Amino acid sequence: MSVKKIAVLVSGRGSNLQTIIDNIENGSINGKIEVVISSKRNAYALKRAANHDIEGIYIGKENYPDVDSRNDKLIEVLKKREIDLIVLAGYMSILNKRFVEIFKNKIINIHPSLIPSFCGKGYYGSRVHKAVLDYGVKLTGATVHFVDEGTDTGPVILQKTVEVDFNDTVETLSKKVLKIEHELLPLGVKLFCEDRLHVEGRKVKISMS
Ligand code: GAR
Repeated sequence: MSVKKIAVLVSGRGSNLQTIIDNIENGSINGKIEVVISSKRNAYALKRAANHDIEGIYIGKENYPDVDSRNDKLIEVLKKREIDLIVLAGYMSILNKRFVEIFKNKIINIHPSLIPSFCGKGYYGSRVHKAVLDYGVKLTGATVHFVDEGTDTGPVILQKTVEVDFNDTVETLSKKVLKIEHELLPLGVKLFCEDRLHVEGRKVKISMS
């Protein structure tokens, strides 16, 4: 099986990017990160990429002010590198219809809740955990899913739950969920790289290795 070419799109700290890097370096993922693209110029994730000699590129509002020009540039960069898999790891910028159509079933995202709860427009980062606490649910978690034209609406690949304790704060809850994210995202990437994910309508079948 050929080694999959991966692009990771980020906007901030990049702890999820780091788990992918680590799982490639320890041989668990049969892939190679060809490029890390950040929508924020000073994202720490770009530093993480540089630390591992991975190319890092900034494509954001400063150099590509409108959504379509930004997406055109992203498409150009990804096509040039013949990318097989695009991972959204805390990527907080809009991907347009053209982008999603071109890379159909090749984009995966990590979301810090159990989709379809606490997801969609306006639900990202700590806002998700605040909404979970405000609602008072007893369980939350993380979801890895394929990306379609909607926001957090694509077929679910993996989910895992986390218990919400009465005294949890946004900080303690996000820490607990992040721990789960760091298990789920590299697993999703690994399964993709082994050609074990099969999209059938809204469902994703995971085949045995
Ligand atoms: C993660 O918690 C990820 O699930 C979330 O942003 C954080 C990025 O952390 N993504 C979303 O909310 C997307 N809707 P990281 O930069 O340390 O990986």
